[in-house]
Parts: sequence; C-alpha cells; structure tokens
Amino acid sequence: MLRFLAQTLRDYHHVGAIAPSSRSLARALAAPLRSRPHQGPMRILEVGPGTGALTRGILEQLHPGDSLTLCEINPNFVAYLEHRFATDPEFAPWANSTQILCKPVEELAMTSSFHHIVCGLPFNNFLPETVQMIFAKFEALLLPRGTVNFFEYAGIRWLKRLVSSKSERERVHAVEQVLKKLISHHQVNQKLVLWNLPPAWARSLQFD
Ligand SMILES: C[S@@+](CC[C@H](N)C(=O)[O-])C[C@H]1O[C@@H](n2cnc3c(N)ncnc32)[C@H](O)[C@@H]1O
Repeated sequence: MLRFLAQTLRDYHHVGAIAPSSRSLARALAAPLRSRPHQGPMRILEVGPGTGALTRGILEQLHPGDSLTLCEINPNFVAYLEHRFATDPEFAPWANSTQILCKPVEELAMTSSFHHIVCGLPFNNFLPETVQMIFAKFEALLLPRGTVNFFEYAGIRWLKRLVSSKSERERVHAVEQVLKKLISHHQVNQKLVLWNLPPAWARSLQFD
C-alpha cells in the first residue's frame, strides 16, 4: 500500500490511483477468464499490474500449462512483482509460467496473441489518441473470442471535470468519447464493484 502510494506521488500520470485494486475488483475482472474459448493452454496478458492486485485474481483462474505475460512501465513495480513471484505463496507456484516485461504497452510487439487481456491502465490520465491506439493494439493482440477486461472508477470523470482547467476538461471529455464508443460497440459485460477504493466499473469487451 505504501509502495503504491509512493509511486502515485512520484508519477500520478501513469499510476492514476490512490490505492491498489481490491480483491473484489480483481475477481470481477478475472471472471471472463473462466471462459476458455480454445482447447489447450491459455495465454493471458495483464497490462499495468502495479503491485499485483489484479494479478492475484488472474492467478486464481489459471490452469497448469497456462501462461501469463505482465507488461508494466514502472521499474519499481516490476522489481516488486519479481520479488512477489519469488516469495509470495500465492504467486510463487506460477513463477515459471509468468513473464514480466518492463516496458510501456505501446511498445509490445504485435506478433503474440492472447486469449484474454486484463488491463489496469488509468485511461482518464491519457490523451484520447493514446487510449484509441492502446485499444487497437489490444484488438490486434487478441485471439478470436478473447476479451479485454478493464476498470473505470465510478464518477471519476465528473470529479476531474469539477476540479480541472478548460483544456484538461476537454481532454477528459475526448477520452470519455473514445471509451463510450468502444463500450457501445464491444462491451459484453459490466459490473459495478462497490467494494473498491473508489468503487469501480469492471468492463469486458469483445471485438468479434
Ligand atoms: C491504476 S494503476 C493499477 C495497478 C494495479 N493493476 C491495480 O489495479 O491495483 C496503473 C498501472 O499501470 C501502469 N502503467 C501506466 N501506463 C502504462 C503503460 N503505458 N504501459 C504499461 N503499464 C503502464 C502503472 O505503472 C501502474 O502500475
């Protein structure tokens, strides 16, 4: 928790949260992983794992032979995740099936393909073009019938608009338009998770 807060203070743009996600939110976002659209092992991508709050929910859904790729921009979080996979009894059994990449998702090679993606990125801090580009990348990285699962804090854009400058309000509005369009075309499930700080919508998108 303190590690997370320290990184929030250091780099709010990329961390974009005051606390790690709750176990309830982690379970809601990992629930679609129960659907295994293809025979054989699953490949899962988690983007922006931070201290591993959502990773825990993903690990609960993995079967032997499945693999997990974590893509995290912040080297401090990466070091912590490496430590967790070496020592935490919930994480260590999956150490050999997990690859941790320290890079921005924007730089992920487009060649690999995943059955599901879980994403913890703070989209409301980004430029609308970046949000658009990241979802286009997710679509390209997914296998048929795969899902992208991400969360949005309830009421966060309303709050941001209340306290922001005109240019910031315009940026937040443009991000909202991008997300609304994606949601209206591709959302297959949503759940309001009240047991999270702050409460959040868990959303699941499918592109085919
Ligand atoms: C809101 S925090 C979520 C952390 C964790 N998933 C959770 O739910 O508690 C956002 C995370 O995304 C990471 N991040 C931000 N921009 C990123 C990018 N372009 N590529 C990869 N990770 C990124 C941050 O470093 C941070 O760990």
